[in-house]
Amino acid sequence: MYYSIAIDGPSASGKSSVSKLLAKKLNINHLSSGALYRAIAYYLIQNNINENLVENYLNQIEIKVKFKNFHQLIFLNNEDITDKLQTNEISTLSSIISQNKAVREFVKEIQINVSENQNIIIDGRDIASVVLPNSKYKFFITASIKARAKRRYLDYKKKIPLRKIEQDIKTRDERDVNRDISPLIKTKDAILINSSNLTLEETVDKILNYIKEN
Ligand code: C5P
Repeated sequence: MYYSIAIDGPSASGKSSVSKLLAKKLNINHLSSGALYRAIAYYLIQNNINENLVENYLNQIEIKVKFKNFHQLIFLNNEDITDKLQTNEISTLSSIISQNKAVREFVKEIQINVSENQNIIIDGRDIASVVLPNSKYKFFITASIKARAKRRYLDYKKKIPLRKIEQDIKTRDERDVNRDISPLIKTKDAILINSSNLTLEETVDKILNYIKEN
């Protein structure tokens, strides 16, 4: 039997970086589920399609996930778009379309397929609650809005004003928490980790210690 580790949390909480390092330490693959929403957003932008019509185009989108060094590669209609997904425009659009039920079902199916034949870490917003409720380990990583904005500011090489990043994160949080379908939620059985004052390594060590003991 394969096992999964669910890592949920708000935007820019560090969950992707944490999951990536954790995957290397545990020698298992990692999928950042946000990348799947981002891939759909990328398709809409490339093809000039209005976000309200996203449902009509899902049958033209084929997303394949492969792994290299425990980290995912995302293929959209056979094109490797892994390195094209981290723009601010895609962040905003992916957050909007992730409210759509058909989109969530589409993405959920991909995640279930990926988790069926291997041990896997998946990070996202609804992994412990909806996608993989039977995960062996569940973590909810959070951090203060200031800490999260600062991390993204550095990710974007200080090219976008800190205040704008902070505002964008707040807007996305609001959408994630308040949407009707699969909102961002900490399940009761998830271990809460506040990473505001922790380094990446310290956060991963906390998780590894928990896993060792349980
Ligand atoms: O995690 P990341 O920032 O890459 O996710 C992009 C967007 O996809 C988020 O803003 C969120 O709205 C959405 N998302 C989601 N459920 C997930 C993962 C991401 O709704 N499991």
